[in-house]
Amino acid sequence: MALNPLPAGWEGWDADRLAAEVAEHNRRYWDDAEPTISDYDYDRLVEALRRAAPDHPVLSAMGPSADNNPGDPVVHAHPMLSLDKAYDEETLQKWAAKFEGDLVMTPKIDGVACSIRYGADGRLSVAATRGSGTVGEDITQNVLRIANVPKRVELPSDLDALEVRGEVYLPLTRFAELAGQFANPRNTAAGALKQKDPDRSAAMGLRFFAYDVVGGTAATELDKFQNATRWGFEPVEHRLVTREEVQSGYEEYVARRDALDFEIDGVVFKANDLAEQDRLGATAHHPRYAIAYKLQGDSATTTLEDVEWSVSRTGALTPVGIVAPVSLSGATVTRISLHNWGLVQQKELTIGATVAAMRRGGVIPYLEAVVEPGEGAITPPERCPSCGTAVEIQGDFVVCPNSLGCPAQSVGILGHYAKVTDIEGFGQVWLDTLVEGGVLQSPVDYYTLSADALMRFDRMGETLASKLVAQVDATRTQPLATFLRALGVPDLGKTASKTLAEHFLSLEKVRAATPAELVPLPKFGDLLAARVVDGLAQRAELIDGLLAHVTVEDAEPPPDTAGLPWVGQSFLFTGTLEAMKRGDAQAIVKELGGIAASGVSRSLSYLVVGNKGKAGSKLTKAEKLGVPVISEDEFLDKVDEARGAIPGDVE
Ligand code: IVH
Repeated sequence: MALNPLPAGWEGWDADRLAAEVAEHNRRYWDDAEPTISDYDYDRLVEALRRAAPDHPVLSAMGPSADNNPGDPVVHAHPMLSLDKAYDEETLQKWAAKFEGDLVMTPKIDGVACSIRYGADGRLSVAATRGSGTVGEDITQNVLRIANVPKRVELPSDLDALEVRGEVYLPLTRFAELAGQFANPRNTAAGALKQKDPDRSAAMGLRFFAYDVVGGTAATELDKFQNATRWGFEPVEHRLVTREEVQSGYEEYVARRDALDFEIDGVVFKANDLAEQDRLGATAHHPRYAIAYKLQGDSATTTLEDVEWSVSRTGALTPVGIVAPVSLSGATVTRISLHNWGLVQQKELTIGATVAAMRRGGVIPYLEAVVEPGEGAITPPERCPSCGTAVEIQGDFVVCPNSLGCPAQSVGILGHYAKVTDIEGFGQVWLDTLVEGGVLQSPVDYYTLSADALMRFDRMGETLASKLVAQVDATRTQPLATFLRALGVPDLGKTASKTLAEHFLSLEKVRAATPAELVPLPKFGDLLAARVVDGLAQRAELIDGLLAHVTVEDAEPPPDTAGLPWVGQSFLFTGTLEAMKRGDAQAIVKELGGIAASGVSRSLSYLVVGNKGKAGSKLTKAEKLGVPVISEDEFLDKVDEARGAIPGDVE
């Protein structure tokens, strides 16, 4: 079906006309499977309607006009089972002795299990939680808004439906950006999936890792991963291992745990061969062909002695539990996060309660459960502990509304600015002092600080004062992406700032952008786009103030690889190359639009083995994963061939 552009003059349509068009195009896309405009134009219409009539009912009725309502029961045709657990290598080896062939190793993601079904037309039809294993809850509308979940797949001719299972999770970078608003990444993901408003769910930035395909004709787990990838899913990282490699593979994850962008609570091993899986079968609780080798939970019980309320840079008052000292992952913990006021109420937390504190991955220790209640009631303060303004209760949150005059919020904003722009030396203690002393309130004030003014404070000598001034001076020129991120707009983290910078190139253009222009950018979407534009507008005074002192450098557009012959291909080099240095070979790959990979993975297009010297573990691994291996000479042939294919580059 051909796609038509929006008719000239559509920008002038009123809300009724826009609503009618959105409803019509929604129906054509979802119900008829015959869209007549591009996704981009559809998003523009939706955005225009959102601006003209933010509460229009059509906006909450997008997606398939299916009979699936949030929370409705969904029966799993194949039950979603649990995993058996192992806590040591011996148990694992005993389990692995029961079948033939290699194992597939994947990290056990601490998220929310999810089943996603596609109908005969390839469209996403139902997404559900695991629930009891037999019956889950309908979460279709929210799963449709997860950026890396395919909304439609190209089904192979031998399949008339498809079910992919996996884990919905919240990336830890995203969790950090939501600074203290939620208990832990898993609860945040679970809450977001059950949200009644898909826009709010989408704004969380959930992601999906596929780990299973139900049905189909695959012969091994690796085949399933390959199929899922072909259909557009992001598979959970996976690798084939032998029984000898099980323990070292597990230990690799223990070591990498803090560096991952998702929380894991174990490593899952499965028999790779599906015929072996069939032979082993399942109990009512778990399949016998899979097991979770659990990571040691860093949990301990202690007593809650007091609650302090700390004010974040967004004005939320976060409850912090003061606990009797307890050892967690080798560190003595006396403070744990209690997340937010809603959670304190929900867990019926009281002073004197025995609580389980948990520390996972890189996340700060937090309240996992109330083991035994105490006596003392916990109530939020009536006034902001920092500025004395009367607080507001907004749902689960206690908020200080004094966003411009509250010292604690200023300290948060100043600290964030210093961290992002690499101004060193302004730690929490100094910021507290300088804000209280009236010399700092907004990041603009950094630029008018003099060593003399600083030296009026106790313990601030000349050396430190001039060092601080020099640090500030070093930030008088900043790349656009850094500047944007330093502003502290809650949704403008590292990735989003970079995306904006590379797309708009100058601060002027970023400031002039409308939500509709942001919507199509990677990982944006309606709600984020609107919030970023709002956040920037709210900071107009801050931006103007900073511009009196700071030069913001325009960004470089990313290299244009479109049309280059090796777009989407990746090459990794091993052994010693004869014809050129490895760096030069990598430069050639990039010049032709490809990626110079740094490790072997399933998605690697070619492993190139140099003519000189021997290739080691990379070769073994590539062969195991079925990655094509080519010689240096074959690589050079490919280079010649590719160079010949670049228009205008033919000799
Ligand atoms: S395989 C029978 N692989 O762990 C289920 N599960 O306790 C086979 N999980 O609810 C699932 N990461 O949602 C598998 N890489 C992974 C996983 C994973 C997380 C979850 C899954 C299930 C729970 C089992």
